[in-house]
Amino acid sequence: MARVALVTGGTRGIGAAIATHLKSAGYSVAANYAGNEEAASKFKSAAGIPVFKWDVSSFESCADGVKRVEAELGPVEVLVNNAGITRDTMFHKMTADHWGAVINTNLNSLFNMCRHVIEGMRDRNFGRIVNISSINGQKGQMGQTNYSAAKAGELGFTKALAQENARKGITVNAICPGYIGTEMVRAVSKEVLEKNILPQIPVGRLGEPEEIARCVVFLAHDDSGFITGSTLTANGGQYFT
Ligand code: CAA
Repeated sequence: MARVALVTGGTRGIGAAIATHLKSAGYSVAANYAGNEEAASKFKSAAGIPVFKWDVSSFESCADGVKRVEAELGPVEVLVNNAGITRDTMFHKMTADHWGAVINTNLNSLFNMCRHVIEGMRDRNFGRIVNISSINGQKGQMGQTNYSAAKAGELGFTKALAQENARKGITVNAICPGYIGTEMVRAVSKEVLEKNILPQIPVGRLGEPEEIARCVVFLAHDDSGFITGSTLTANGGQYFT
């Protein structure tokens, strides 16, 4: 039977590429989305992947969402925590809402999602958790104290959860994408993108969502059981850790 993989924020951008690549690799995939109905229904018919709506920043909604996915597809064996948002602004202009929205969606979602799948993974002695962090959690980024804090938090979470579950056949890893050509990055002004960001990328271009999706497929593989607590960096040479 195909293993079941759940991708949060899985109907657009990097998440959609991850969901599609996992499906091509033989997984039975569920894609979560928060609210963009049009994108979700387009993705569903193009990719042939079922979509499930809930808010990853809510613990209760995640409990209900995971229950719905498991009722339809079976126990979640691969969880990709990809959902994320930005609320970029300099810290001296940042509101509590900017801060809270990003911490809740990008970091608290890891607790909210993992907590509902970890016991099942432990019972079955198998699991793959992949957290999509960011280059900006590694290096920090002006305009992103909220996002950088959340993404750095994801790395600590990954390493701690990896240790707790290493003897249970569960791996927990993070991927740090650099600047990938998605709506999120294209929301940065053209001027800043061309003047400040692209010149910092040695390969001279934005990354492609598929280049991150391939990293997920690698970490999710049954044969990747010795890789846990690691951070896989894919940023075109922009930052070396
Ligand atoms: N690197 C270096 N310099 C930057 C910069 C960056 N990423 N972003 C902005 N600057 C510079 C600007 O060029 C500008 O310099 P000058 O005064 O010399 O012109 C100065 O900082 C101020 O910039 P703004 O005029 O844009 O000021 P602002 O207050 O309107 O906005 C900002 C500030 C919110 C930081 C805005 O510039 C911005 O959004 N920058 C991009 C931040 C960023 O990289 N976000 C990543 C989004 S993609 C993502 O998050 C995915 C991921 O994981 C990588």
